[in-house]
Amino acid sequence: MSDLHAPALKSFGRRGGRPLSARQQELMQGLLPRLRVPLPDSGLLDPRTLRPQASEVWFEIGFGGGEHPVGQALNHPGLTLLASEVFQEGLAKCLGQIEDHGLSNMYLWDEDARQLADRLAPASLDRVFILFPDPWPKARHRKRRLIQPAFLDSLARIVRPGGQVRFATDVRDYADEALVHFIRHAGFRWTAQRAGDWQMRPEDHVATRYETKNIGDIAPVWFDFERG
Ligand SMILES: C[S@@+](CC[C@H](N)C(=O)[O-])C[C@H]1O[C@@H](n2cnc3c(N)ncnc32)[C@H](O)[C@@H]1O
Repeated sequence: MSDLHAPALKSFGRRGGRPLSARQQELMQGLLPRLRVPLPDSGLLDPRTLRPQASEVWFEIGFGGGEHPVGQALNHPGLTLLASEVFQEGLAKCLGQIEDHGLSNMYLWDEDARQLADRLAPASLDRVFILFPDPWPKARHRKRRLIQPAFLDSLARIVRPGGQVRFATDVRDYADEALVHFIRHAGFRWTAQRAGDWQMRPEDHVATRYETKNIGDIAPVWFDFERG
């Protein structure tokens, strides 16, 4: 398993962006503290205890502007969604959508998602989404990519047997590299049944902002892995 205390390289670019509007600042100061995942001072959090009535707990890593977790939270009011992002403008946008829709089934994490992953109870998640993660295209930056063997160890610890991890990218060599890491990992099984499964946008997907920009070098690929 990964060393939980090893310092991880930064997998994200900037945290700041354009100045936030007055409403966004209010949301960051008022709503975010109420929705932040309530980690205990020490030990692990079992996220199923947050809303015991929830059918499942899903975790999204790097949600950008929040379109996907908000869409999923609306489509599936019976589950709990933990959603992480460090980019302040994205967090503020997501908070705005949560308030507009009156959502009560989302919790946010505004620090590195890997830190939260290390503090979740074993086998406590049903699904994880990593959609269009930062591509880090330069060879010297590749180590910053989220999908690394140590991070897959961490995911394998917190996803329950039979749970799912969805990875999407529109960058060819990230797709190749991520697939190799997942396939080599004993904890995950690629669920594609036929050639082409991974080229089809999953039916339950909600389009993300980054995805619609089409800035990668291939059409998006969708890899679903099952925790063995
Ligand atoms: C290329 S963007 C894609 C955003 C979104 N998934 C979409 O498809 O629109 C990747 C996002 O992941 C976030 N990110 C990268 N590493 C992260 C980490 N370790 N924890 C939380 N967020 C992270 C970045 O801040 C960035 O906003």
